[in-house]
Amino acid sequence: CGIVAYIGHQEACPIILKGLHRLEYRGYDSAGVALLNGDLNVYKKKGKVAELEAFIAEKDTRAHVGMGHTRWATHGEPNDSNAHPHYSTSERIAIIHNGIIENYAALKQHLQQQGHVFHSDTDTEVFVNLIEEVQKQNNCSLEEAVRLALHEVVGAYAIVVLSRDEPNQLIAARKGSPLVIGVGKDEFFLASDATPIIEYTNEVVYVNDYEIVVIRNGQLEIRTKEDVQQTPYIQKLEMELDSIEKGGYEHFMLKEIFEQPRSILDSMRGRLELEAGHLNMGGIRAYERKFVNADRIIIVACGTSWHAGLVAEYLLEDLARIPVEVEYASEFRYRNPVITERDIVIAISQSGETADTLAAIELAKSKGATIFGICNVVGSSIARATDAGAYTHAGPEIGVASTKAFTAQVTVLTLLAMIVGHKRGSLSDTRLRELMVELSSIPAKVEKALLLNDEIELIAETFKDVPNFLYLGRGYNFPVALEGALKLKEISYIHAEGYPAAEMKHGPIALIDENMPVVVIATKDSSYEKVVSNIQEVKARKGRIIAVVTEGDTVIPAMAEFVIEVPLTSEVLVPLVSVVPLQLLSYHIAVLRGCNVDQPRNLAKSVTVE
Ligand code: G6P
Repeated sequence: CGIVAYIGHQEACPIILKGLHRLEYRGYDSAGVALLNGDLNVYKKKGKVAELEAFIAEKDTRAHVGMGHTRWATHGEPNDSNAHPHYSTSERIAIIHNGIIENYAALKQHLQQQGHVFHSDTDTEVFVNLIEEVQKQNNCSLEEAVRLALHEVVGAYAIVVLSRDEPNQLIAARKGSPLVIGVGKDEFFLASDATPIIEYTNEVVYVNDYEIVVIRNGQLEIRTKEDVQQTPYIQKLEMELDSIEKGGYEHFMLKEIFEQPRSILDSMRGRLELEAGHLNMGGIRAYERKFVNADRIIIVACGTSWHAGLVAEYLLEDLARIPVEVEYASEFRYRNPVITERDIVIAISQSGETADTLAAIELAKSKGATIFGICNVVGSSIARATDAGAYTHAGPEIGVASTKAFTAQVTVLTLLAMIVGHKRGSLSDTRLRELMVELSSIPAKVEKALLLNDEIELIAETFKDVPNFLYLGRGYNFPVALEGALKLKEISYIHAEGYPAAEMKHGPIALIDENMPVVVIATKDSSYEKVVSNIQEVKARKGRIIAVVTEGDTVIPAMAEFVIEVPLTSEVLVPLVSVVPLQLLSYHIAVLRGCNVDQPRNLAKSVTVE
């Protein structure tokens, strides 16, 4: 979910609506606003922010204090009544909430006994009634009531609360879900990330867990849940407004795919210095010995970031000779994993807010492991929870399906594997040098792969109506096959499976007939010959082959219905290039099917609930 709030001299509603559009990538099941202007009015609607906008067009929305929410449903289906903001029973207090209250059922029962009435199935409505009840019982201010109520809730939250009885005031709090304050001139903004804020101010304060924010009469105050005053730490934002707008592209996803030559370069900048022959990564300097002596590296992540983790498994084992395990954060955290102080845990996350990844970090930390983070969002919860780390410099990624963040993650992980491999002596000076040269040429090779766009659009035309797809790859291209399949599923709703090419014969081969498109990533590398055999196996069952091959390949074109030629690169770097046509293929298929590419159904970009 995304939350945004405003208090100051400007009209609140337009700022909030614009902010909600920016945050829509975090969820778009419903949207709503609450405006405080003598009265406390709540307007909310199922569906996208645009529907809310149409709904309130005729309403009186004048106010200088207000807040808004765009929802990714957890408790209760997406409908008008489950949309946020939620009122308390007396309708004197309203709340917006991102997160989950785990003990809501017990609290609800208790509150019902006290006479509170509920109109939704949400945990959030329980939260606001709890605040109201606490205020009544203690006859205290809203601030105090929020503070006391926070002691009773178990779970994760970023909340903003407004009260009709205390106008000119915003109260917010955070535990586990992100919250940023924008500090303007006589005005303040609150949001789940900085995107709704940057056009007004570049001064921000990242709220920490267990902090309560009170903005009253033009003053900002931060206190802990234990009522200890904190000094707000104001930071300068480095984000540019251009980076969060479409800049002439039809969709954010297409823009982000095309940004990859630049984002890969930015992720190497200052780290790979070819002329000087240096590799640097500030984040690992203090932990170099730990990496060199590590018994094992455990990678935790979700979704596309998990696929980047799989590429890193090949990289770190190949180049640095350290055993690696790649774990879904959500599984890892609920096992009883064996972790020691000699393990390094690498957490990979674009948003830096994924709840399961964050929980996996906490678990590994409690067992003494060193935690290294690879995040894209500066100042995010995961970036702050790790011992050390390296940012990917992909810039803001808005399309829900991740593209440039993936290649940026793989770039950073490649650099990491090269540095550690060299330090451990498993990567010779010569080999290191070769890889540095090759890695520097990747942005240009990705640029070249992007020229395939029109060709891929034609392939998409052929396959846009099929119900299933299979993606096959081996070695470094196996995670790419998984990622290609995930991209297609996410945005076109076509069922797709990624498989290790050789494993196909143990199951998926049964699916192959003359209607089944099979995307085979078959670039020139050590498993090339084997993949050619796998293509034969598909062909023998009349499967329709779309092959991603290395430029100049003369063997596969004779076997495939379509070939997509990508530039030759070193085997260990190939995912950075071979994933690009798969991103474009899924993009075009989704567009041709009329799908909402940037905001696919049921998904959210930042999953801050477990
Ligand atoms: C969601 C997004 C995916 C993303 C995954 C992990 O499912 O839709 O695109 O890969 O979360 O997110 P993270 O921000 O941790 O990389």
